[in-house]
Parts: sequence; structure tokens; C-alpha cells
Amino acid sequence: MLYIWQMLQDQITQYTAEINAFDTTSADELEQFRIRFLGTKGIIKDIFDEFKAVSPEEKRTLGKVLNEFKQLAEAKYQALNEITANSQLKAENSDVDLTLPGEGFEIGARHPLALVRREIIEIFNKLGFSVAEGPEIEDDWHNFSALNFPEEHPARDMQDTFFIKKGGEKGDIALRTHTSSVQVRMMEAGQPPFRALMPGRVYRNEAISARAHCFFHQVEGLYVDENVSFADLKQTLFYFVQELYGEGTKVRFRPSYFPFTEPSAEMDISCTICKGDGCQMCKHSGWVEILGCGMVDPNVLENCGIDSKKYSGFAFGMGIERIANLKFEIKDLRLFSENDVRFLKQYKTAII
Ligand code: DAH
Repeated sequence: MLYIWQMLQDQITQYTAEINAFDTTSADELEQFRIRFLGTKGIIKDIFDEFKAVSPEEKRTLGKVLNEFKQLAEAKYQALNEITANSQLKAENSDVDLTLPGEGFEIGARHPLALVRREIIEIFNKLGFSVAEGPEIEDDWHNFSALNFPEEHPARDMQDTFFIKKGGEKGDIALRTHTSSVQVRMMEAGQPPFRALMPGRVYRNEAISARAHCFFHQVEGLYVDENVSFADLKQTLFYFVQELYGEGTKVRFRPSYFPFTEPSAEMDISCTICKGDGCQMCKHSGWVEILGCGMVDPNVLENCGIDSKKYSGFAFGMGIERIANLKFEIKDLRLFSENDVRFLKQYKTAII
């Protein structure tokens, strides 16, 4: 007759083989395994029940075997439980590709006009020009009269003005039409030498289109000292253009008229887009105008309390939009003020 302990021993051997061979990644199959071996009505419970009937002298050896068997089943269950839990997590998140790069975040971009303004200022800084600013709401004296625009003179019509108020202490109040008004403020406030750059926003009463806007930006330059000549003006602007658009950019000066300079000129540079061969930007002339300039009219110096016999100077003024247009080929002026991020984003990689 077979002893109970022998029968149990055989069962344990058989189940041990079964447990060792068992493998699954399925949570259902593992649960069945748990119920079959470790459940309240499971195999291990049964074997322990039967164990009670084993003779006391056999209990010691069989007890050890039985405990090892129970530990084996539990260890197997735990190991597989970890694996199936993991694979279940993966299945649930199967549409998440952890190897993809993160979403990142958008950083702001500098406005192309700010970039160009900064570049202009940096170039003139090297020549010793400082930066000055003046008010956007200006009186007639600073915007026109001191700059040698005679009363009722048609030259005032060159710039369609937004008037704000009639007849202030220094004439009608208006939005400044150019940054030349800052020259006057600077010269009134001190004595030469002056060597400054005056960037700022200006306003003109024009219908908005691709080529005109009711506000835009200028940079004014002023250099007043003893013995300043037209040659100084030419060399300064020549240097500026080489720095801004690269060595070999040609310049030419055409005689022009501004009330506040005598003589006056407009400066063209060889087209930055086609290098002078002729394209749409330069209207097939090979040249593009970038600024107005001249020797400060002695009347302007005197209007500002500066001795025109002792001092002379030159001035120039340029539109920042124009310079930016030639640098970035931005054809429509309206883009600068619409603040469309798709436009602004494109200048992220330009000088920061
Ligand atoms: N103020 C002029 C304008 O708005 C530009 C200009 C021309 C400024 C000649 C100057 C200059 O200082 O000398 O069109």
C-alpha cells in the first residue's frame, strides 16, 4: 500500500515540473495558474490538508518539501505577475511612441525691424555714434520750422502730416513725420561735437498699401563738429554700407533737395539682390535708393543756437523698413505691422 506521504511526494514532483514549465504573458492565464495552485481551493491548500494525515515522523522531511513547493509556486506567480503587468501597460499605451522627440516650446522671435535697427546702431557705434531719442508727438518748430521749412512752403506738403492740435506755443502739434526733429532737440540741448543716431517711429497720412504705410521707422544720423565736410559724410556712409551689405557694395550720390541740408543728396547702393545686374527690386537699373543726406544747412544750426561759422555738420536719414526689405526681401510693408507669427517666426535665426 502506498503511504500518503509517498503519494504527496509524487504529486509535488509532478506539480513542480508543471510549475517550472509554466510561462505566460497573459494576465488571464496567470490568474488561472494562481487559482489552480494558490487559490483557497487550490492544489497547495489540498496538499496541506492531506499533509495533516501524514505520520509525525514523516512530517519533518515532507514539511520542508511542501514549503519549498509552496514558495516555488508563489515565486513563479510573482515573477510572471510583474511581466504581465508590464506588458499590459505597454498594450494600453501602444499609441505612445516613447522614442519620438518631445513637443518642445516656442520661444519668441525678434521683430525683423528691431534686428535691422540693432545692426545699424552697432555699425555706427563703431564710428563713435551714440543713440538718442525724441518724442513722437511733436510741435511745428521741431518737425518743420527749425529744420528750415519756411511757413506755408510747399516742402511741408512733401510729408502728409497727421495734425493733433492747432496753434501750440511752438506751433501746431502733430505726429512727427520724420526723425529729423530729434536733430533739433539734440542741438538745442547742447553744443558740438554731436555724433548721434536717432532711431524712431514716424507717421504720415498715407493710404496703407504694399508700398506705403501711415507709420514706419527711420534712423536719423547727425555729425556736427569743426571742419566736418562732405567727404566725411561720404566716407561714413560708404563704411556703413560695406558693413551692412558686405564689401564691394557700390554707392552713388545723386543731388537732391531737403530744406534742412545744403547741399543735399540721395544715396543709392548697387542692388543687393542682383548685385547690379538688374532685377525687380532695382527696377532693372542695378541701383536702389537707401537714404537722404546732406550738409546741415547753416540756418538749421543757427535755429538751434549753434555758431554756423565755427561748426559744420552732416546729417542723413533712412527708412528701417527699406533697409530690412533689401536685407530680407520683404516686399509688402504691411507684413511689418500685422504681427502674423508665421511671418515673425522666420527671423528667429537672425542675429539675436
Ligand atoms: N527727413 C527726411 C525724410 O524723412 C530724410 C532725411 C534726408 C534726413 C536728408 C536727413 C537728411 O537727415 O539729411 O524723408
